[in-house]
Amino acid sequence: MTTLPKGPTNSILMNVQGLMDPIGYTLRMRERYGDPMSLPKMDGKPVLATGSVEGLRALFAVPPETLDQMLGKSFTAAMGESSLFALSGARHTAMRKLLMPPFHGQRMRLYGKQICDLALQHSRDLKPGLELVAQDLMQTISLQTIIHIVFGVTAPAEAARLEKLLEDLRKSFSLGLTVTLMIPWLRQEFRGVGPWARRQRAIRDLRSFLDPELARRRADPAERTDILSLLLEARQEDGTALSDQEIFEQLHTLLFAGHSTTAGALTWALYFLGNAPAVLRRLRHELTALGADPEPDALAKAPYLEAVCNETLRLRPSSPGVGRKLNAPMQIAGHELPAGAGVFAQIIWAHHDPAVFPESAVFRPERFLERTYSPFEFLPFGGGNRRCIGAAFALYEMKLILGTLLRRYSFELVSTKPVRVGLQGLPGAPVRVIVR
Ligand code: HEM
Repeated sequence: MTTLPKGPTNSILMNVQGLMDPIGYTLRMRERYGDPMSLPKMDGKPVLATGSVEGLRALFAVPPETLDQMLGKSFTAAMGESSLFALSGARHTAMRKLLMPPFHGQRMRLYGKQICDLALQHSRDLKPGLELVAQDLMQTISLQTIIHIVFGVTAPAEAARLEKLLEDLRKSFSLGLTVTLMIPWLRQEFRGVGPWARRQRAIRDLRSFLDPELARRRADPAERTDILSLLLEARQEDGTALSDQEIFEQLHTLLFAGHSTTAGALTWALYFLGNAPAVLRRLRHELTALGADPEPDALAKAPYLEAVCNETLRLRPSSPGVGRKLNAPMQIAGHELPAGAGVFAQIIWAHHDPAVFPESAVFRPERFLERTYSPFEFLPFGGGNRRCIGAAFALYEMKLILGTLLRRYSFELVSTKPVRVGLQGLPGAPVRVIVR
């Protein structure tokens, strides 16, 4: 076996520092150890971290069956064994095939009008001079998108009930739960107290809302385009339908993967735009030139709007990196790794590679108009066979929501003080804005 590179050895210290300052800490580690570096061993096996183009290309170009999710066990505990995050091998590939279609192409574009209407509806009370927390607005719009498009619940009373249940579930994903997922014996309900008990309660409450809904829709299958109904109709390769448990776990996965991530990215976009008046001016100019009432597709095709969204995702990806476990020996970034070893694809390193992104700390959307980036240079949605299935949809949604809001309102930052990055890449403090 070749000698592995140096790297941090204390995993507790590393996790704490990584949680407190994910981007700064990750970049300091590269300065100190270089790329690639070693991370503390997992289950006695080496773990290599890399964000170089060669390292990422080697990792994501291998046959899918040779890679597994690095944190599969934690995902199983958090979201269930049939969650796309927890599956591997042929079952993972098959479940992706079932889930993918509505998140792409024509099927995805069916949702465009609905997304713009939801953004308008949930921002209609914004009045000039009103001060608000940008996260609250973006969480509401992103959650409503999920309620309507993923769950297909549109009746106001039902949607309000579902909103409360989904919010409870989202809030149960706390720092305490993250710790619980790392330490299996903490996963107990302790007489209803603590993060695990809160989480389980939120899951049970959501199930008791959804189970009758599933039964109703199975009994009366109508023409519907929401993702829950598509999952009810979907057939696996052996012709069987998904069970209620499997459907619930996929819905839970889509909520976890798609809600806070999108809301966080939209909040960061307002934050960066608030700090970059020239960018905002150019974006406004582009949006105004689209005319009085542009179609969703016209917004989605606006190049500068897309560049603003991409530059936001470059600087604030929802995850500092993604982990894989090797099922076979492999050479990555010049190192021979045995089967069972881990590789952590450092998205932050790739997005701050000075050779690819000069002045990488600066918010400059123009760079996305000047050239295109390969999937090993710009990868906010991860890569390979586990790349985010919602990537196209998320970018589409971001463009429609941001475009719709900015065509009607200006958002001025209350303070231009830097906002730190918190858990899951979200803003670590409220981003306060004044509506103009
Ligand atoms: C700005 C918004 C989003 C960002 C930044 C984001 C980012 C990511 C990342 C980094 C991964 C891990 C990929 C890997 O391991 O290589 C992922 C996976 C995933 N995302 Fe997203 N995501 C976003 C929105 C969404 C949306 C809207 C949905 C669906 C409603 C979604 C569904 C998923 C699913 C199901 C996976 C698991 C894929 C698998 O394991 O095969 N995401 N996402």
